[in-house]
Order: sequence, then C-alpha cells, then structure tokens
Amino acid sequence: MTSRTLQGKSAIVTGGASGIGGAITRLFVARGARVVVVDLQEEAGQAIEKELGDAVVFLPGDVSDRTVADTAVATAVDRFGSLDVLVNNASVSRQKPFEEQTDDDWNLAMDTGLYATRNFMLAALPELKKTGNASIVNFGSGAGLNGQPNQASYAAAKEAIRGLSRVAANEWATFNIRVNVVCPMALTAGVAAWADARPEQYAQSAASVPLGRFGDPDRDVAPIVGFLASDDAQYMTGQTVMADGGSVKLR
Ligand SMILES: NC(=O)c1ccc[n+]([C@@H]2O[C@H](COP(=O)([O-])OP(=O)(O)OC[C@H]3O[C@@H](n4cnc5c(N)ncnc54)[C@H](O)[C@@H]3O)[C@@H](O)[C@H]2O)c1
Repeated sequence: MTSRTLQGKSAIVTGGASGIGGAITRLFVARGARVVVVDLQEEAGQAIEKELGDAVVFLPGDVSDRTVADTAVATAVDRFGSLDVLVNNASVSRQKPFEEQTDDDWNLAMDTGLYATRNFMLAALPELKKTGNASIVNFGSGAGLNGQPNQASYAAAKEAIRGLSRVAANEWATFNIRVNVVCPMALTAGVAAWADARPEQYAQSAASVPLGRFGDPDRDVAPIVGFLASDDAQYMTGQTVMADGGSVKLR
C-alpha cells in the first residue's frame, strides 16, 4: 500500500507537468497531496491534470514571470484552502563555453532558476507561515557542485539557489518553514535523447555513478522530494540532498 505521508497537504510544483516535476506531482498525489502544477507546456499540463483529476490544478505560465508566482499561491489557497509545500523544480539553461555565453543565456538561467525560486518563495511565505508546518524544496545540481564545463550560467544559478536556501532555512525556521535542496541525476526525456545521440558518452557517465545507473525520476528522485516535503523530515532544514546514486558525497 502506498504511504499517505502527504495526506491533506497542498503543494505547488513548478515544472510539474513532465520530467522530474511530473514524477513529483504523481508521487505527491499518490501520497495524499493536492498540487498546483505550474508549467510552460500546456499539452503536458492538461494531460497530467486529466490523469490525476481533482487533486491537480494546472496553471500554464512561465516561472520567470513574477505574477505567475502570485497566481499559483492564490490558486492553491482558493482550490485547496492552504499552501503547505513549495517545490521549485523548473529551470532552463543553454550549454556552451563560459566565454560564449551571452547576457541572454545568463538571463535565462538566472530568471528561470534563481529569480523564479526567489519569487515563488516570497509569494508563498505569507501562506506557508499560516500553516505553521511548511516545507520548501528547491533544486540544485551536481553541475554546480562539480563545476561542469559548458554550464557557467546554470552552475552559478544553481549554487546561488543553495546559498539562498540556507539563508531562508535560518531566517524562516522561526515559522517552522523548512527549506532544503535536492540535486538530482535522472534519466528524463532530455537525458534520454542525449543517450541516444551519444551512447558511448552515456554509458561512460552511467558507469561512473557508484550505483551504476542514471536515476529514474519516479522511483529514485520523487521519493526523496516526497520525504523532504513530509513531516518525516520535520527535523531537517538547510540541507542539500544528493539524489544522484552516490556521485557526489557532501560533507
Ligand atoms: N535531469 C537531471 O539529471 C538533472 C540533473 C541536475 C539537476 N536537475 C534539475 O532538476 C530539475 C528538473 O529537471 P528535469 O530534467 O526534469 O527538467 P526538464 O527540462 O525535463 O523538465 C522541466 C519541466 O519544467 C518546465 N519548464 C521549463 N521551463 C519553464 C518555465 N520557464 N516556466 C514553467 N515551466 C517550465 C518544462 O516544461 C518541464 O515540464 C531542474 O531544476 C534541473 O535543473 C536535473
């Protein structure tokens, strides 16, 4: 039987229509939560809303638009009565050498990564305070921790999110709002396309993971986010959790 560790909780999942975000939305609903899914992809958003019924409200929108954050919070309160959990999962970037990254490339990584995360956290704060027991899960990346080549703007945005999360964990502990970061490694559609195009590189990367494979969004990553969102993690805040098969070991 699926554990109902998120029973009665109301959540926002950005980028919650597909990829890791889609896996999080499905797991949250299976564990008893209701979810506002914010996503650019209308078709995927409508599909997951249809699949999961009344437990999901799809809000089409770009996370880099500040008004979308306000609307998402208002929608959660209007439809579900409160907001207990915020997952800042969506983010996009372009991969190229540092010296070739343009202002536009940097703005994309920062606007959809750091600023979207900040805006959603600030928009959610008044409602999260009211619950007296809330959880925020933000997304970092091994690319930031390792300084992965071709990822300058993305790595900078992701490490800034980790810094912001630690400050918010300290400042908002007084409201019992926990703030943690997950750094995933998962075989999403984008990674699968790369694996098809460069099978040797993919095999090499997978072999370098201690657990010997890329993670599965549903089975390997979403349960870790579900744990952090639940009361089982009530004594954890300010942490970065690696959902990466043991690739990075933080101390
Ligand atoms: N997949 C991995 O191995 C990996 C590794 C490290 C970090 N991450 C991080 O995990 C998170 C999820 O990754 P993923 O691989 O599932 O990504 P993805 O690109 O497969 O999916 C992201 C989802 O967000 C949506 N989205 C993208 N830009 C948006 C925007 N501006 N506004 C609203 N929605 C938007 C997309 O439509 C999609 O549904 C990201 O923060 C990513 O940086 C992923």
